[in-house]
Amino acid sequence: MVAELTKALQQQAQQNPQAFWQQHLQLLDWHRPPEQILDDSNAPLYRWFVDGQMNTCYNACDRHVEAGRGDQIAIQYDSPVTGQAYGISYAELQQQVALLAGALVAQGVMKGDRVVIYMPMVPQTAVAMLACARIGAIHSVVFGGFAAAELASRIDDAKPKIVLSASCGIEPSGPVAYKPLLDAALEQAQHQVECCIILQRPQLLATLQTQRDLDWDEAQQGVDPAECVNVAATDPLYILYTSGTTGTPKGVVRDNAGHAVALAWSMKAIYNIDPGDVFWAASDVGWVVGHSYIVYGPLLIGATSVLYEGKPVGTPDAGAFGRVISQYQVKSFFTAPTAMRAIKRDDPQASQLQQYDLSSLTALYLAGERCDPATLEWAQNALQVPVVDHWWQTETGWAICANLMGIDPLPIKVGSPALAVPGYQVEVLDEMGNAVAVGQSGAISIKLPLPPGTLTTLWDNEQRYLDSYLSQYPGYYLSGDAGYVDEDGYLYVMSRIDDIINVAGHRLSTGRFEEVLAQHPAVAEVAVIGVADKLKGQLPLGLVVLKAGHLGAVNLETELVRLVREQVGPVAAFKLVTVVEKLPKTRSGKILRATMRKMADSQPYKVPATIEDPSALNLIEQALVRMGYGSESVQAAP
Ligand code: COA
Ligand code: AMP
Repeated sequence: MVAELTKALQQQAQQNPQAFWQQHLQLLDWHRPPEQILDDSNAPLYRWFVDGQMNTCYNACDRHVEAGRGDQIAIQYDSPVTGQAYGISYAELQQQVALLAGALVAQGVMKGDRVVIYMPMVPQTAVAMLACARIGAIHSVVFGGFAAAELASRIDDAKPKIVLSASCGIEPSGPVAYKPLLDAALEQAQHQVECCIILQRPQLLATLQTQRDLDWDEAQQGVDPAECVNVAATDPLYILYTSGTTGTPKGVVRDNAGHAVALAWSMKAIYNIDPGDVFWAASDVGWVVGHSYIVYGPLLIGATSVLYEGKPVGTPDAGAFGRVISQYQVKSFFTAPTAMRAIKRDDPQASQLQQYDLSSLTALYLAGERCDPATLEWAQNALQVPVVDHWWQTETGWAICANLMGIDPLPIKVGSPALAVPGYQVEVLDEMGNAVAVGQSGAISIKLPLPPGTLTTLWDNEQRYLDSYLSQYPGYYLSGDAGYVDEDGYLYVMSRIDDIINVAGHRLSTGRFEEVLAQHPAVAEVAVIGVADKLKGQLPLGLVVLKAGHLGAVNLETELVRLVREQVGPVAAFKLVTVVEKLPKTRSGKILRATMRKMADSQPYKVPATIEDPSALNLIEQALVRMGYGSESVQAAP
């Protein structure tokens, strides 16, 4: 039978989740080990390890020093955009974290207070996260590619006491000033913070406001290093905002102990990483991959984590990933399919990658977006290692489906992230909530309880958590993805069932784009859809209807593009927008976004019987073709 061990573990975790997770408690050092493994008294809200006490920072840092690993590199920073590269040992990390935590305490930050971290890919960002964990403060990292308005909405939701930021991030085009964005966000936000601690980077210094801002180094001068405080297993470790279907981001809340147990277990089971091994996740700390697998996962087990401030191409070339792998002897490597597509585009023969000795590498892991089979096969040939697709979400914090390379490597089926990871009971459901037959598509759902490490709620909005994820199919978590399972239990994730799009592995809400575009005085109505893109997987494309009298607006499209860049951020990669006469709708007024998406991607589509005005679809088709999308030759499905 295929996957005998994986299936046996799935069964154990399903039949007795308490016993399954209890055996992994020894992966952590506890102040007080839990006696109650799972609290289901408040279902559908579940809590793991409820009466346990521990500290995540202690487990990710101090205990390795105490165990004699102090000299081992914890974080290997490599920054082709600044020319810097250095390692930080566990002992150094402990000192830096304790000192910054001391500075936070000196500023009045206490257990349970929120701290927003708006920082680039520098080791100080990881230090900042761990410093919060050390004193029981809840961090909320905001990705640097977001604009001031996005930062402001997160500040208003999380209500932090302090913001930690830096003068700039560095993109291949040069330094990107962060401080003016932070200043603008704090001006826009209703909530006011008490203090900002700013890391000055020599590439672009920031102007500090005397009343509010403190220099990073000065804030730490003369303070006492802070010790780790004990927190309850269920206390929040962090809030990470992610796109929902509306414009308002969702604050995913992660607890301390469930998170640490799950990540520590996953490092060996999924990524085959042992203490002392070198692991590299080429993502950004602003995303969940960065939280779980640049910072917490590798450090929790005492591995070395590479923190890379650069791109797959252009810093300086398409061989960059090969250089890093060979220079630091990376054993397991994780990135997004987009990154591999970018390398393939610039260096189809992979000759720049292959000029390096890649013999340390044992596997490449891909996630963040659907991986097209051609990219997976190309990567496998280029790197000569298994390429492991795995599927997860910000909400889950770690893989839902994966090939357990560390304990039960399975045959790879191209296009599938393999089987449900033990602890997740994945089922594909039809509209009525019944399980569909093998091979049939439906809504991918996970039977409750979710395993440790997954979201416990949405920050300050339990009702939204219940409504968004747990109401559609009682007893199940709705993933928002659609797909099917084959006869061997391999899952195939094909698309989203909502209006979330995935641009270069970055999850974005079309609802948010629409909200921003609708602010323009000329715009009467708008629809934004995700269209297929060879490099970034998807790109947002806007279709706007103008208010009467605005038909001749000059430079309107440029203005709309600028508006989205200013309000959402450059990472939105919003460049495609056009004016149309009308939008296709059903008679009840629902815009036919799914039909337009299929049209743009040249897929067969059905004209819904409830369409109000079929001519609107023809106009959209013509507009899409003018923009280079869709094709008039594709016939509507019967
Ligand atoms: N701070 C400020 N700006 C940022 C930023 C950051 N942290 N990250 C990205 N941006 C900006 C970029 O400079 C770019 O701006 P531009 O429009 O002025 O050129 C824009 O946001 C889009 O950036 P990006 O998505 O990186 O696209 P790109 O066209 O510059 O590069 C790839 C394309 C494929 C190389 C790049 O998308 C990539 O490396 N993708 C990997 C995806 C990934 O790691 N995802 C994480 C989830 S696992
Ligand atoms: P994020 O929360 O940003 O990690 O995005 C999660 C979403 O990205 C998922 O719900 C999927 O739509 C998509 N996704 C992530 N990994 C995969 C994968 N391996 N295959 C297909 N889609 C994926």
